[in-house]
Amino acid sequence: MTGPSPAPLPVPQESATPRIGDAAPDFSARTTRGPLTLSDLRGQWVLLFSHPADFTPVCTSEFIALAKANDQFVSLNCRLVGLSIDSLPSHLAWLEAIHTSFGVRVPFPVVEDPSMAIARAYGMLDASAESSATIRGVYAIDPEGIIRAMTWYPASVGRSVSELLRLIQALQQVDRDGVLTPEGWLPGDDIVVPAELTEDAVTATGLAWFLQYARCTPA
Ligand code: BEZ
Repeated sequence: MTGPSPAPLPVPQESATPRIGDAAPDFSARTTRGPLTLSDLRGQWVLLFSHPADFTPVCTSEFIALAKANDQFVSLNCRLVGLSIDSLPSHLAWLEAIHTSFGVRVPFPVVEDPSMAIARAYGMLDASAESSATIRGVYAIDPEGIIRAMTWYPASVGRSVSELLRLIQALQQVDRDGVLTPEGWLPGDDIVVPAELTEDAVTATGLAWFLQYARCTPA
């Protein structure tokens, strides 16, 4: 016997959050380094990251660490782009205060998004927050403008810059050699290869046919 149809799930009112494999929503905006159109960065990797608010402690610690690692990202052909809903004057005052207080210049652009249009397009708005603060979103965008990875952290937990570097290095290794990177992979570590699913191959490889490591070819 069939019962009544289940109630339909509520349809989210916000525009859908992009997923891995989607084109990164393009935007043009004012930044601390002048006007920026995201698609002008084609040909380079981009780490677009949102932070909840300027002049907050966790965000400040992240910006100091990201500023210090900027050259490492650039050497990977990767540009850092920060974003929050704060205004450009607020961003500029905060970056100046970081320089004055910690001696660190932030060399990457920080996008203002007072209308929240960019935050909405990327699904960065924290539905649980009382304010319009964005979550700590990171979008790794490849040189063709495709989102290849995303992470979302709550406002209370700072991100790991070394993990963001590792993520870009792993994505580049995957693209270069068509391989897979295992847990905690770092450049130079063994990679893993997809199992060949034939009876002969499985028999020849042995019991652990589903996890085979191989030497990583140097970049
Ligand atoms: C922070 O970066 O410290 C922070 C930002 C928003 C809410 C809570 C903490």
